Amino acid sequence: MSFPPGFVFGVATAAFQIEGATRVDGRGESIWDRFARTPGKVHNGDTGDPACDHYRRWEQDLDLMKMLGVDAYRFSLAWPRILPAGTGRPNRKGIDFYRRLVEGLHERGIKPFATLYHWDLPQALQDRGGWANRDSADWFAEYAQLCFRELGDLVDDWITINEPWVVAILGYGHGTKAPGHTDWREALASAHHLLLGHGLAVRALRELFPAARVGITLDLTPADPATLSPEDVAAAAREDGSKNRWFLDAVLRGRYPQDMVEWYEGRLGPLEFDREGDLAVACEPCDFLGVNFYTRIRARAAAEDGMLASRAVPADGPVTGMRWAVVPDALREILLRVEREYGRRPIFITENGAAYDDRRQGDTVPDPERLEYFRAHLEAVERAIADGVDVRGYFAWSLLDNFEWENGYDKRFGIVYVDYETQERVPKQSALWYRDLIAERSER
Ligand code: FCB
Repeated sequence: MSFPPGFVFGVATAAFQIEGATRVDGRGESIWDRFARTPGKVHNGDTGDPACDHYRRWEQDLDLMKMLGVDAYRFSLAWPRILPAGTGRPNRKGIDFYRRLVEGLHERGIKPFATLYHWDLPQALQDRGGWANRDSADWFAEYAQLCFRELGDLVDDWITINEPWVVAILGYGHGTKAPGHTDWREALASAHHLLLGHGLAVRALRELFPAARVGITLDLTPADPATLSPEDVAAAAREDGSKNRWFLDAVLRGRYPQDMVEWYEGRLGPLEFDREGDLAVACEPCDFLGVNFYTRIRARAAAEDGMLASRAVPADGPVTGMRWAVVPDALREILLRVEREYGRRPIFITENGAAYDDRRQGDTVPDPERLEYFRAHLEAVERAIADGVDVRGYFAWSLLDNFEWENGYDKRFGIVYVDYETQERVPKQSALWYRDLIAERSER
């Protein structure tokens, strides 16, 4: 495969999924600690401990990345480690952990891409309403400023929010993720406050570190109609409107899609959280767009079903261990679409990967399906670039098997296998393949 000069190959993780040590060195409680300890919420009753014990084993993990030869590492900062109560007094030990981590990356020639928010809201802020409270945008901006001040000398590339759709809709609407609420009014208000907070953080970074680069990461999931009936076509348009256009339009055009505003207002009444000027903040220009891509859905109209009156039908082709359809071509299509409909801009694939039921065999883990997943998706990226899309880099999800949210440790997304009993790391065959791809890359 060949990629443009300077194309960044990386791996990605998130704090809550790998760090463990949830009660160490002054870290505050997060909504995921609380959610995981609530019976019935997370598979097998798994919690954020021990995860990959990365808080203690981070040097070994940086060495692993060095062995893989990656150019960059996308990780997230745990808000409750930095500000245990969410606002107010910083926790020096938490900040120092991330300073050491980032220094360690520089020593190994790996570029840090730091995500400010990957879902671990301090519980103290959830107790004040969480993202559904309009003040959350300011709490986030305050936290972002602190991170920029403390780490901005070492980090040039920032991502504000990871997947606002998941945070808002799954966290506050469907309730399958923390904090587990089921109220769509709260969900849409939360999405709005996340986007507002994002814009405020971008502005803060511009003031403090004008040369730094920043973007937001959206999870883009194409939605196709299950059949060509007008009802299914409309259902797919709603799914696309809710998952993709709501966020793309807000951050790239400074407005919400009118069809979706009407749909939601028809069901929920006026969307009062959207105040004059908010979306002008949310669409503050960024340096890049982060895209997480995993799958596509097929929608069927279902009058009785949920907010969108739509239901996803099972995929008919190959699926991953999450039962997510493997559709690499949909990645190329969505990249072309973003470029066509929203204009050309630098894009990073900030996550892409697959869970499979891996079995360790001594010192190796054969994972041919994951390897093929990566190969096919990287080829899709390569083709999108050939078609003119400005993709600057690709981060494999994930460096390590880790705490896969409500699925606990049951779903393994790593290119490196983690034995949770011993904390041993075993590179899977896909990791070695990725290493070779990076080593042998040709640039055009
Ligand atoms: C994404 C999340 C990431 C991981 C992958 C599988 O939605 O950003 O943390 O869980 O899915």
